[in-house]
Amino acid sequence: MSAIAGPSTPSRKRSKWDNDGEETDRNSGSLPVKRRSKPKTTRSHTTTDATQPEPHTDSGCPVSLKTSSMVHLHSKFVPPRTSHPPIIPSRSVYSYERLNQIEEGSYGVVFRARDKQTGDIVALKKLKLDEEKHGFPITALREINALISCRHENVVGIREVVVGDTLTQVFIVMDFIEHDLKSLLTLMPAPFLQSEIKTLMLQLLSAVAHCHTHWILHRDLKTSNLLMNNRGTIKVADFGLARRFGDPVGVGGMTQLVVTLWYRAPEILLGATTYSTAVDMWSIGCIFGELLLNEPVFQAKGEIELLSMIFKLLGPPTSSSWPDYSSLPLSKTISLPPSQPPQFRQKFPYMTAAGIDLLSSLLAYDPEKRISAEDALHHPYFSESPTPKHPDLFGSFPSAAAGEKPRKKPDSPSAPLGAAGYQMLTEFDPLPSPT
Ligand SMILES: Nc1ncnc2c1ncn2[C@@H]1O[C@H](COP(=O)(O)OP(=O)(O)OP(=O)(O)O)[C@@H](O)[C@H]1O
Ligand SMILES: [Mg+2]
Repeated sequence: MSAIAGPSTPSRKRSKWDNDGEETDRNSGSLPVKRRSKPKTTRSHTTTDATQPEPHTDSGCPVSLKTSSMVHLHSKFVPPRTSHPPIIPSRSVYSYERLNQIEEGSYGVVFRARDKQTGDIVALKKLKLDEEKHGFPITALREINALISCRHENVVGIREVVVGDTLTQVFIVMDFIEHDLKSLLTLMPAPFLQSEIKTLMLQLLSAVAHCHTHWILHRDLKTSNLLMNNRGTIKVADFGLARRFGDPVGVGGMTQLVVTLWYRAPEILLGATTYSTAVDMWSIGCIFGELLLNEPVFQAKGEIELLSMIFKLLGPPTSSSWPDYSSLPLSKTISLPPSQPPQFRQKFPYMTAAGIDLLSSLLAYDPEKRISAEDALHHPYFSESPTPKHPDLFGSFPSAAAGEKPRKKPDSPSAPLGAAGYQMLTEFDPLPSPT
């Protein structure tokens, strides 16, 4: 292999671990990692006592820097090595025994597995890195980073990142959660009760408020990315499209190819190049409606159809409901339907006035006026009767992910392929049809 950096090492699409879970000759523990031999020199930064500054010369330079090995030493401003986080190699995927494949999504294949040391049942998401030609993809880094930054009772717990046989085999190890809400909704004999929907919404809002406080946008909230255990607890998962907000935005703006179509906010559909936490709040509104109806609210085949469904439910945008509408890049290309009042009451006839108010505050056109996760948590809907059910009182269901029942693939569109599949939306190209 040449020394010049070229395309990454081609790999077998599947490792031995994914294929048969055979233990092969690697029982448990780490891949053989070449240990770096101890440095010959006895000089070690780790032994430097930071409280004992080295004697300085007239020039202000530590005496020891005036040696022939000067170029190898750090500046006096670099803290001693002991202050750095420890660098530990990732464990091998062979530390886990593969049990079954749960699901193959757009960004990864998810397996159920057992930790050979502890016996814990976990979920391993193998990141799809095979096509990568430019190193470790930023989306994968964002997913790992977001999971670590957003640790919360209602966010799926990340345990570690393990590696397979080649550089393109990277797995995120998470707590195993029995269900995803999408599959559960299709398998449950009866829809959730109002008191249960309140509990689920409070958990979801609390997780998203936490992510937003930590400057993370999820950008792909939908029922298949909400996991639920058999103790009535929701865990937000799949941070594959997550992004830190507040960071400077590049020249082209933020990608518009985020959020699975049915859950995508109108400002993204209309070409906004900067957007914020309100895009997640719109998706939460769609999830709320889906829990109430027991089916997705906007089951559109493309963006134009989605916009017309939104116009129908909310009434077309006006200068008071969305003052910035006309300044959005694609608003000129849209001919608005005749004015008509919102149809929330007709679509959700059994909701209380407070419930309709929360739903319409989440599904509000103007991102500036859309309710925040923190405010939604204190909405009167949650304190009126019936009050939220305690999670312990939720029923339990056989877990398809644990192979307890044949899994029926829910009918919903897949997540957009992020920056990889980015294309200009100005021509309103039809998106790939829902799978
Ligand atoms: N920790 C977990 N425990 C149990 N099942 C999980 C876990 N994480 C993910 N899954 C299952 O795997 C599915 C796909 O996972 P995930 O959404 O993270 O992958 P993805 O490739 O980004 O999916 P997509 O692009 O289709 O949304 C989930 O919908 C869920 O059914
Ligand atoms: Mg997903």
